[in-house]
Amino acid sequence: PGTIRGEIQFEHMYFWYEDELPVIKDLNLTIQHGETIALVGSTGGGKTTIVNLLCRFYEPKRGRILIGGHDYTDLSLQAIQSRIGVVLQTPHLFSGTIRENIAYGRLKASQQDIEAAAKLVGADHFIQRFEHGYDEQVGEGGVLLSVGQKQLISLARAVLSNPEIFIMDEATSSVDTLTESMIQKGMEAIMQDRTSIIIAHRLSTIKTAHRILVIEDGQIAEMGNHAELLKLKGKYYNLYTR
Ligand code: CTP
Ligand code: MG
Repeated sequence: PGTIRGEIQFEHMYFWYEDELPVIKDLNLTIQHGETIALVGSTGGGKTTIVNLLCRFYEPKRGRILIGGHDYTDLSLQAIQSRIGVVLQTPHLFSGTIRENIAYGRLKASQQDIEAAAKLVGADHFIQRFEHGYDEQVGEGGVLLSVGQKQLISLARAVLSNPEIFIMDEATSSVDTLTESMIQKGMEAIMQDRTSIIIAHRLSTIKTAHRILVIEDGQIAEMGNHAELLKLKGKYYNLYTR
């Protein structure tokens, strides 16, 4: 007991959206506490759907999800979402200051904690350059931020919340190389000793994952580490040697 804290299990999970066409088909997977999983695969395969289900934005139609050994429908939505730190592909910031966006309702967070989180992920660098620093307004009527900068703020938020599980949907839109390397470093800092699921587009992230899952047509088409999957000369090989 205690060792399964951040363990995630998918048991015979099925899911479909309104049109009832099966999107996830009998997914069976156990992710160990502290493990880093990379989800890769061609568009429409079901990667984001898996993440949406894990965050309980949707629930499985059949089968179940266990977090830390418990069926997650027995846990409150708040309990689940407080255990998961998630950075979306196109992150959403609310109208308010950068400080408020990092704290995200954590009223007890001190300025010191907020800045430490921002420094750890490399967000401090660009925040300091705003006229009002952490008190700069973002969102509606505030300064314009790039997708990469929004992801950095979301990463800082994830660090501050200290979740058991970290989920990241890497941005596919263009992120400049400096911001990208900041994001990379920030992710590495968060992933330390935490169960992590990364929907990965960058080979640098994928290579460092403990396990890579190729998701095709709502199923696990291939699974293994980078070297193993290359040796297979299958779907992964085709994705990353072109
Ligand atoms: N889908 C749907 N209704 C939604 C979201 C998705 O019908 N609200 C469908 C998509 O059309 C697709 C399938 O569900 O056929 C899986 O979508 P998704 O999980 O978003 O696929 P990803 O693997 O995340 O695709 P991408 O790489 O493009 O992000
Ligand atoms: Mg997606």
